[in-house]
Amino acid sequence: MNDGGILNIALPKGRLGEKVYAMLEKAGYPCPEVIGDTRKLIFENPDAGVRYFWVKPSDVAIYVERGAADLGVAGKDILLEYEPDVYELSDLRTGICRMAVAAKKGFRDDPGKTLRVATKFSHIARMYYAGKGRDIDIIHLNGSIEIAPILGLSDVIMDIVETGTTLRENDLEVIAEVLPISARLIANKSGFRFKYDRIRALTEALAELVNSGKGGVKA
Ligand code: PRP
Repeated sequence: MNDGGILNIALPKGRLGEKVYAMLEKAGYPCPEVIGDTRKLIFENPDAGVRYFWVKPSDVAIYVERGAADLGVAGKDILLEYEPDVYELSDLRTGICRMAVAAKKGFRDDPGKTLRVATKFSHIARMYYAGKGRDIDIIHLNGSIEIAPILGLSDVIMDIVETGTTLRENDLEVIAEVLPISARLIANKSGFRFKYDRIRALTEALAELVNSGKGGVKA
């Protein structure tokens, strides 16, 4: 079978990507320059058969869906929000956090009124409240969502909660849990066929690491 050549892997820039790279290195796919002090975005280790590139976390799925990357790592939040046409191969059990609804302390929902929801995750919010038959007005923001209820822009927010520090420090509290989130390994659909053997080998090596608990893969 054709070994498919080098694997192109899109990593999410930032803390999650660094954790995931550490896992890939342990799993036998090193490319140390990736975490070096440089502004370069593409790195290759032909001996390990990998080419890594750093992209914005919310863009990983686009690179993978369109075949610019064979593999990538994206949070379940991104996959649910954008519903990219990719294979979700495994749960890497890192980048663990949750999607939650939060509001100012003491907030009381009035079911008779349209609920104003500020979020980066408009699609997830629509699905969540449609499931509850709740009438909402989505206020789509791109960051610092926590400010919205403080300034009266929204009644609640739907956002990622990891340690809870951002909510606490802004006097907000979780009023509903929406879903648990973790990082997923995703694959381009045709790349998966053409590079099946190499992708399977990488997926199995990562799975072994995740299951052994030796990956240093805590959230
Ligand atoms: C995320 C999220 C929360 C924060 C939660 O923001 O949107 O603001 O992390 O983390 P915590 O529970 O550990 O405090 P991010 O850092 O991605 O920045 P953003 O405001 O641009 O979304």
